[in-house]
Amino acid sequence: MRFSRQIKIAPSILAADFANFGAECRAVEAEGADWIHVDVMDGHFVPNITFGPATCAAIRPHIRGIMDVHLMIAPVDPYIEAFAQAGADIITAHLEAGPHIHRTLQAIRATGKKAGLALNPGTGLDGVETMLDMIDLVCVMTVNPGFGGQKFLDLSAKVRALRNLIGDRPIHIEIDGGITPETAPVMARAGADVLVAGSAVFKGGSAAAPEAYGQNIRAIRNAADLTRGQIV
Ligand code: DX5
Ligand code: ZN
Repeated sequence: MRFSRQIKIAPSILAADFANFGAECRAVEAEGADWIHVDVMDGHFVPNITFGPATCAAIRPHIRGIMDVHLMIAPVDPYIEAFAQAGADIITAHLEAGPHIHRTLQAIRATGKKAGLALNPGTGLDGVETMLDMIDLVCVMTVNPGFGGQKFLDLSAKVRALRNLIGDRPIHIEIDGGITPETAPVMARAGADVLVAGSAVFKGGSAAAPEAYGQNIRAIRNAADLTRGQIV
């Protein structure tokens, strides 16, 4: 995984056809997705339940690029090895998921995977600075996690502050929740480089008719690239 701050679009398969994940992953990649974002929910840390490591392992062969696994589960540590074995490239855990996020990040890195730190909308950046040498990605949630299709929360000031904190370090800033061609530029301008999008990518298409996926991905990417300028 070579580091770059170019805009990357990461479709969230939370908005895909759950009976057809393999074909859906192949379709969005063929239509221009950079990463595949995989939302794991446990009905405890968040109110919704999706799937676990077995599903991640099953879809892995259908993803050529980066499999970006977002764990919305608590506890995290007992499952890290299973998600690593399932073929995740990036494993992201929430700062709010338990008292020992530092240990969790160490455990993720120990598997040889990239470590991501996710922050709920209500969580500030206190503490992030301490962990900057342990992380490869910060996921700024712009909705409260649990469901797709929610309204975007404009946390530009937080993203800008995070971008300043990160400086030259090779740490991605990922935005998750409510990304559309309208909101993507706001986040790109603030310093984000990975844009997760569920409903805005999968709407209007299917694995059998994936052209809409391509149009949706291009609309988000073009909007972000256009407005971004040289400020990153
Ligand atoms: C929310 C998930 C997101 C979600 C994004 O808990 O982490 O990845 O799927 O969906 P949209 O793009 O529809 O807000
Ligand atoms: Zn997510």
